[in-house]
Amino acid sequence: MPTLRVDPLTPDPSVIARAAALLRNGEVVAFPTETVYGLGADATNPEAVRRIFEAKGRPAYNPLIVHVADVAAARRLAAPWPEAADALADRWWPGPLTLVVRKSPAIPDIVTAGLPTVALRVPSHPVAQAILRAAGVPLAAPSANLSGQTSASQARHVEKSLGDRVPLIIDGGPTEVGIESAVVDLSNPTPRLLRPGSISRDDLARLLGQLEVPSGAAAPGAALPSPGMLDRHYAPAAELVLYSGSQDPVIHARLAAARAEGARVGALVHHTLPGACETIVALPPEPAGYARGLYQALHELDERGCRLILVEAPPATPAWAAVRDRLVRASS
Ligand code: TXA
Ligand code: MG
Repeated sequence: MPTLRVDPLTPDPSVIARAAALLRNGEVVAFPTETVYGLGADATNPEAVRRIFEAKGRPAYNPLIVHVADVAAARRLAAPWPEAADALADRWWPGPLTLVVRKSPAIPDIVTAGLPTVALRVPSHPVAQAILRAAGVPLAAPSANLSGQTSASQARHVEKSLGDRVPLIIDGGPTEVGIESAVVDLSNPTPRLLRPGSISRDDLARLLGQLEVPSGAAAPGAALPSPGMLDRHYAPAAELVLYSGSQDPVIHARLAAARAEGARVGALVHHTLPGACETIVALPPEPAGYARGLYQALHELDERGCRLILVEAPPATPAWAAVRDRLVRASS
């Protein structure tokens, strides 16, 4: 399981060639994207895609995102390519946006969990771009973590969770965005935001003219907006509990219980401390910086042996929707 370090802006072509050769040969490779690390495989090869599900322990009903190098390649995998997709792609591709469209027969059923639609994304990360171009095939790539667990914003996180299951990890340093892409479903007349991301829902709605936001995208529990989205997700090994303000009674109840058990308690804060905790990680009090540091913070609190993590709930504003979504799912 070698990890090969590359310069994120100008990756060594020989390392890229090695990754591409493995991918063309039906193997899986972990690599950085601008959002989180992905575990890629040739999306046109069902046997290769099966290896992704196996390595992650991912349920077969949860479809994968297919990554391509440019809009032209995305068009070839859609049938039809909707008009709205052009406007979105023009503005945000390459970048942290995934579009769900009706799929072409070139995409095997295992990729889409049997759905008639496929999720497509053109990543902007130079390493992801280089690998896509060298491999010359579309790459199915979910986040590079065991199913349900905290995603990887650094190669180290991939090693921790999948190190013994993948033949190659490309280390391009910490990812820029830090949380997964926004997912917009264009397969029906009204566009729907299936997963909030760093691109704001207001910006998406302005460009599209209309955007449905299923309640499941903000808080799980209601309708199932997309297969696999209802499960507990993004979760560290520790129990994660959200609190709002230092007076929230949940803090005192949970702290007392943890003390009685002698459990180590961590706190993830951006403004207000919950009281005395063994380990405190502070993130920036604005959504982009918070998102960038979120998964590293959760990995760190786990690594430092916290059994309970008290997380200061971010404001319930649209700007924080994507971060809140990840925290709510991690605590469910
Ligand atoms: O930023 C990202 O999107 C990262 C990087 C690696 O590109 N990938 C990622 O993949 O987050 P994953 O597999 O962890 O999440 C894909 C999400 C899942 O919630 C899945 O249910 C949804 O996209 N999805 C995939 N195909 C779909 C489809 N045809 N219809 C509806 N939802 C779909
Ligand atoms: Mg994931």
